[in-house]
Amino acid sequence: MADFSAKKVLFTSGKGGVGKSTLSTTYAKILCDKGYQVLMIDCDVSLRTLDIMLSVSSLVLYDWYDVVEENVDPRSALITTDGPKLLAAPMGEIFVTSDDMRRLVSAYERMFDYIVLDCPAGVGPVFDAVVSVADLAIIVSTPDNVCVRSAAVAAAKAEAAGVESRLVINRFQKNLTFGGKNLNIDEVIDATGVQLVGVIPEDKALVLSMLNGELVDPNSKAVKAMKRVIRRLDGEQVPLKI
Ligand SMILES: Nc1ncnc2c1ncn2[C@@H]1O[C@H](COP(=O)(O)OP(=O)(O)OP(=O)(O)O)[C@@H](O)[C@H]1O
Ligand SMILES: [Mg+2]
Repeated sequence: MADFSAKKVLFTSGKGGVGKSTLSTTYAKILCDKGYQVLMIDCDVSLRTLDIMLSVSSLVLYDWYDVVEENVDPRSALITTDGPKLLAAPMGEIFVTSDDMRRLVSAYERMFDYIVLDCPAGVGPVFDAVVSVADLAIIVSTPDNVCVRSAAVAAAKAEAAGVESRLVINRFQKNLTFGGKNLNIDEVIDATGVQLVGVIPEDKALVLSMLNGELVDPNSKAVKAMKRVIRRLDGEQVPLKI
């Protein structure tokens, strides 16, 4: 596969700690299980996490800024995992431009079917650089007012950059409203203004598999929900199961 240009999919939320890294890793692993060649780029500058989630921390010799600065050739910076290939995030303070990101991605886009970009929290300069290379933005939001506001900001910035967005509501718990403070699915869609592509339930099995750095647990409800997200992104009509 992959003798054409990879599809570049970014995961963002605006707000921190809502599940971007967990869901982007799950998404990438499912695509690998389906036989695709997948590259994950950890864009969380100074706070890299994907090497831990993919159990390859001890293998990190280079990060993607080494590729941008031409300290290493693009293939040598790739870290092999049980699932996707990984480019680790730089740990120091760096200033990355859209042009840097474009050069980085162009070094890899003919080697892979998908490039999955896990954004840091916030919509600052790194987000701007990452969004400039994306074909699709997955906006992750939990069903609460604080998160939907920042998700709406991230979606607006993606739209302004000409990038299509789809909404994934994460950590959804049926019948749990925290005295009306939690939002229902329609309220999240209305508040973010983004087309829904899936709802991922709160799921301890997902957390455990990430902590252990294991491949996706096929029995996890969250993994099943992410599989449905992938089918919908492929254009299939898949009923929403909550
Ligand atoms: N569907 C889920 N069910 C239960 N726990 C979840 C779910 N999704 C994410 N979590 C948990 O939420 C926490 C934050 O997840 P994660 O690190 O993926 O968020 P993030 O948005 O990438 O954070 P940051 O903004 O710091 O990069 C983790 O402890 C993770 O295990
Ligand atoms: Mg993260």
